[in-house]
Amino acid sequence: MGAFIGIDTSTTSTKAIVISENGEILGVSSSEYTFETPFPLWSEQKPELWWRATKESVQDSISKAGIQPSQVRGVGLTGQMHGLVILDEKGKVIRPSILWNDQRTQKQCEEIRSAIGKHEFIRITGNDALPGFTAPKILWVKEEEPEIYARIKHVLLPKDYLRYKLTGEFAVDRAGGAGTVLFDLVQRDWSQDVIKALDLNPEWFPPTFEGTQVTGTLTKKAAEEIGLIEGIPVFGGGGDQAAAAVGTGAVEEGIVSISLGTSGVVFATTNSPFIEPEGRLHAFCHAVPGKWHLMGVMLSAAGSLRWFRDSFKKELSFDEIVAGVRDVPPGSEGLLFMPYLTGERTPYPDPLARAGFVGITIRHTFEHFTRAVLEGVAFGLRDSFELMKNVGLKEITQVRVTGGGVKSSIWRQIIADILNVEIVTVSSEQGAAFGAALLAATGAGVFKSVEQACQSTIKITENVTPGPANKVYEKMYSEYRLLYPSLKGTFHRISDILS
Ligand code: XUL
Repeated sequence: MGAFIGIDTSTTSTKAIVISENGEILGVSSSEYTFETPFPLWSEQKPELWWRATKESVQDSISKAGIQPSQVRGVGLTGQMHGLVILDEKGKVIRPSILWNDQRTQKQCEEIRSAIGKHEFIRITGNDALPGFTAPKILWVKEEEPEIYARIKHVLLPKDYLRYKLTGEFAVDRAGGAGTVLFDLVQRDWSQDVIKALDLNPEWFPPTFEGTQVTGTLTKKAAEEIGLIEGIPVFGGGGDQAAAAVGTGAVEEGIVSISLGTSGVVFATTNSPFIEPEGRLHAFCHAVPGKWHLMGVMLSAAGSLRWFRDSFKKELSFDEIVAGVRDVPPGSEGLLFMPYLTGERTPYPDPLARAGFVGITIRHTFEHFTRAVLEGVAFGLRDSFELMKNVGLKEITQVRVTGGGVKSSIWRQIIADILNVEIVTVSSEQGAAFGAALLAATGAGVFKSVEQACQSTIKITENVTPGPANKVYEKMYSEYRLLYPSLKGTFHRISDILS
């Protein structure tokens, strides 16, 4: 029987997963690395780390799967989005990659808005220029490191650097490509207008491919180094969020996925390119050919609970701390939590947004504060949900939740109550790497479509329906929505005082 490999080049590790043609997981392995923050707001990583970790994790996953390299029929790639990788004419990396979580490019974002016009830029790319995205990073190199800029011959994303190491080809998948914000969202390709307006060289940008298309085949050298066979096709794959949506089966309009990790992502597949007019939601190409997606990203979701536990009751496990909220009524007796511990992206793209508890009275106990954290994160998810409805996503038929945070049934119930929608959990837990492997299997013809691949391999395991608590949550949500606009001035002035 044939097998497929999904490789996820994430910010902290590279994970390789081997699946059978039925989508059964045969072996998983990951190899870790770190990223550097040489100055405040910077976040960088050396691309050579990804290659070393790929070799280790692919070899180990194959040996865990107990298969022969000759059984592998295809490789799918996914990874951290938005990172800038630049190569010279010899294909050598000329500076460390500037990552998605790097915040140094506020000035360049302003420059993009004034060069093209904020709304025109959103109209073309689907997105506002935000520091996390790739385009402002290129402008930063131009302004701050002109000697390096002069040597650029190729611009790639992290996953596509790996693709180059595997196949010798320069190529980018369209889900990742849209995350550069140099894409024409409707055309699903580079926007020559944006590239020209920013005075970039169009020759730097490689051909683009759908997630299930072949982008190249394994070279002899790469095959030897990772323990596979020369000539195996490497498929487009997708940016980590789009590939993770494939991995949980969120590939049809109406199915929304929520991932509750350190950050919280609300992801909705769309059959046509929807755009939030102020760019408050991200709008990218999906890894599913011919589809798009909207995405809201909260920076501190389960991360808020971790911070709370670590800061105030380290001795408790997550299960214990969450179990403590059972006796606290929904609405935490008037206590609200704003989860902007590391600034925010959706719905307020503001690095200076700050977290807070509001409404504390003498009655409030540690357990009330815990419940308020769980509820505040769910209110933040609801913000993305509301924006999605406002841009025209008519029907949300199912919400699939994944990630460490939703292991708690109490938190799942709170989310169902606050979003006022049924939520379900699914059988697949390997996220983006699994999605990348499914994209490869579909590209190789094992499945008729990505949708069919998901239907055949991903099952619903549990469902939670909204309960009567929704009534009080509706009222609390209305108040929650007023908090950031009321406090924004204070957050910014506090930051000025401290700087
Ligand atoms: C998506 C995003 C992150 C990174 C890192 O917009 O910034 O998901 O891809 O995983």
